[in-house]
Amino acid sequence: MIITIDGPAGSGKSTTARKLAARLGIPYLDTGAMYRAVTLAALEAGVDLNDEAALTAVAEREDYQLDLGPTHIRVTLNGRDVTEEIRSMHVNDHTRFIAGSPGVRRILIQKQREIGVRIGDLVTEGRDQGTAAFPDAEIKFFLDAAAEKRAERRLHELLADGEEVTFEQVLANVNERDRTDSERPVAPLSVPEGAIRLDTTHLSIAEVLDTIMTRLREAGLVQPEKDALVTAPPKARH
Ligand code: DC
Repeated sequence: MIITIDGPAGSGKSTTARKLAARLGIPYLDTGAMYRAVTLAALEAGVDLNDEAALTAVAEREDYQLDLGPTHIRVTLNGRDVTEEIRSMHVNDHTRFIAGSPGVRRILIQKQREIGVRIGDLVTEGRDQGTAAFPDAEIKFFLDAAAEKRAERRLHELLADGEEVTFEQVLANVNERDRTDSERPVAPLSVPEGAIRLDTTHLSIAEVLDTIMTRLREAGLVQPEKDALVTAPPKARH
């Protein structure tokens, strides 16, 4: 069963996806980490970030792997653990080139679908999971929140990481990312057809999770009174 969670930066989708997966005991896929790993690979390879063919070649050639679990995700690039490095401001500032490359998107969507087939039950989050990667997912969510609230959440994370930033800088960055995410010609951020929309501005993560669990139960995808997926009955053997 595939559960997709899409939304803009700071909408709470990463934390929600991680906690939801842990609660259901299934892996979660942070697709942003894939775009970040390709960004780091392209920066290290020194390619021109406006060169579509070069970016596609990096996404095709480099070996970036995701180790998925219900409570963790580790990312390696050519065998080196880059889990922390892909979260740096340097990588942050360049992801838009990689996210705007049709060739890279085609390759990453293909990899995401392969992961879905291999793993089976998955919570996957990003910008295009319910639209492009898994349009036939069993259930889709779209999380959003006011820009000021999203900037406030991001500011807390960055300060906790020891970055020296102000609220105004982070808000400007959130607004800029919203603009590039929704205006890019390739796969702009949009609400997937049939998605359940949640405005998380005034909700805690626990409240978002409870709402999602309720919707999963209502859809008959999670067992009543339990945090377990409803699994399809085994096929009769003859
Ligand atoms: O969610 P994030 O900040 O880790 O995403 C990193 C970058 O990748 C950001 O520029 C948005 C982009 N992205 C995307 O275009 N499609 C996805 N499915 C996931 C992320």
